[in-house]
Amino acid sequence: MPEGAGAAPAVVPRTRSLSRLRAAATECRACDLYRDATQTVFGAGPRDAPLMIVGETPGDVEDRDGRPFTGPAGRLLDRALAEAGLTREDAYVSNAVKHFKFHREGKRRIHEKPDAGQISACRPWLRAELAAVRPRVLVVLGATAAASILGRSFRVTKHHGIPLEWADYAADSPLTTPDGPPIDDAVVVATVHPSAVLRSRDREAAYAGFVADLRAVAEVLS
Ligand code: URA
Repeated sequence: MPEGAGAAPAVVPRTRSLSRLRAAATECRACDLYRDATQTVFGAGPRDAPLMIVGETPGDVEDRDGRPFTGPAGRLLDRALAEAGLTREDAYVSNAVKHFKFHREGKRRIHEKPDAGQISACRPWLRAELAAVRPRVLVVLGATAAASILGRSFRVTKHHGIPLEWADYAADSPLTTPDGPPIDDAVVVATVHPSAVLRSRDREAAYAGFVADLRAVAEVLS
């Protein structure tokens, strides 16, 4: 069995209904993360959102709360969105992997990065969300989301803040299956993960760079 793989592949209903997808994802056993996580943290936001934002995995707060980006990284994201002239209400927000991955240090649960098998096991859900929302702009937060959407050779450091055409990446995207790509067109903007901003030694500069990348998103949407 590949690294991180669970007992069975994700059983994703063929539907554009986010509530049906969300309900089905509660039962997902496609990787081993469901065992220790509290719940599946599916994406949230309107189906007609012009903007879709994809992060890595839910954190400790999101695992308990059941919604993406409600902890410290989410608060930073909201602040940066507002500074860039965007708002969470216009966005469908999700993660590449929908269960919290962690190890324990005493009572604390410490976040761990999902491995390639877990990212790949969860990808059918992300594909279905993308096909349901069909955003005009897709924002990719950090390396894990980039690996899931644009492939492992994509470098956020090189392309951050640059509006890219999905059509140029679709053929090689891991989201593309024999059924085709989940969407035909969108503008893709990659940027850093808000947790990386929080961890940065020069937090002010990292935050300013993050806001600048999101301003590029606002410009595309305007
Ligand atoms: N980090 C993420 O990537 N997603 C969340 O939902 C929370 C923190």
